Amino acid sequence: MTSRTAVVTGAARGIGAATARRLAADGHAVAVLDLNEADAQATAKAIGAAGGTALAVGADVADEAAVASAVERVAAELGPPQILVNNAGILRDNLLFKMTAGDWDAVMGVHLRGAFLMSRAVQAHMVEARWGRIVNLSSTSALGNRGQANYAAAKAGMQGLTKTLAIELGRFGITANAVAPGFIETEMTKATAERIGVPFEDFLAHAAKEAPVGRVGRPEDIAAAVAYFCSEDAGFVSGQVLYVAGGPKA
Ligand SMILES: NC(=O)c1ccc[n+]([C@@H]2O[C@H](COP(=O)([O-])OP(=O)(O)OC[C@H]3O[C@@H](n4cnc5c(N)ncnc54)[C@H](O)[C@@H]3O)[C@@H](O)[C@H]2O)c1
Repeated sequence: MTSRTAVVTGAARGIGAATARRLAADGHAVAVLDLNEADAQATAKAIGAAGGTALAVGADVADEAAVASAVERVAAELGPPQILVNNAGILRDNLLFKMTAGDWDAVMGVHLRGAFLMSRAVQAHMVEARWGRIVNLSSTSALGNRGQANYAAAKAGMQGLTKTLAIELGRFGITANAVAPGFIETEMTKATAERIGVPFEDFLAHAAKEAPVGRVGRPEDIAAAVAYFCSEDAGFVSGQVLYVAGGPKA
């Protein structure tokens, strides 16, 4: 497999960290980007210890200037990025009547503005190389979810962004696809259990019962799907949304 430079956002923990580890194991040099460089360091060190190449980068994906300098740094220190995984995400759940404009803006800022800014910055390198892979993290919440007007809209937006990137960038050898996870055991779902006052174990057991495969997802399940879209073999697959949820979703 050809070794590329990959950028994974929100890679300090959870799905992003598993994806960074997976892409490194697949032979790529990985920029582990998260809000704080110190937080990203643990993932980068684990990759290094496993024999891979990684660079910890601190940047807020919603900050235009920070994104520009982070991508410049990656290009200078690891090589021009040709794989981008827009994974950074936050939750600000609330029922509509209690949701503040701040909750709305924060979620749109990280997921949509962040994915837009990162994709715009990285595509310049991909276009030059005439090869690129962009994978955006959507969610089953894109189909609608109580208490998540902001998040559901952002995750549905990620699908529209993905399809448009696929259409605009295809001629340069660049594909864009989305992975839409179901329930994955991470700090994000742990925080949701805490917020609604349900013990995490009970929350996991309920989610496992709901899934046809009878278990919740692991970050590695999502990393495997992302890795497929990033592979050389997936060059004719673009603009797709893959639900990885242990059962069918539409
Ligand atoms: N866990 C699930 O069940 C699930 C389901 C569907 C989709 N997703 C999506 O998968 C992605 C990863 O989720 P997770 O469960 O691993 O979440 P997580 O909360 O464990 O990790 C998210 C990471 O993103 C980083 N981040 C947040 N804001 C950022 C910003 N502005 N700039 C840079 N980094 C930022 C955080 O610091 C954190 O390290 C998210 O986009 C999430 O919406 C998760």
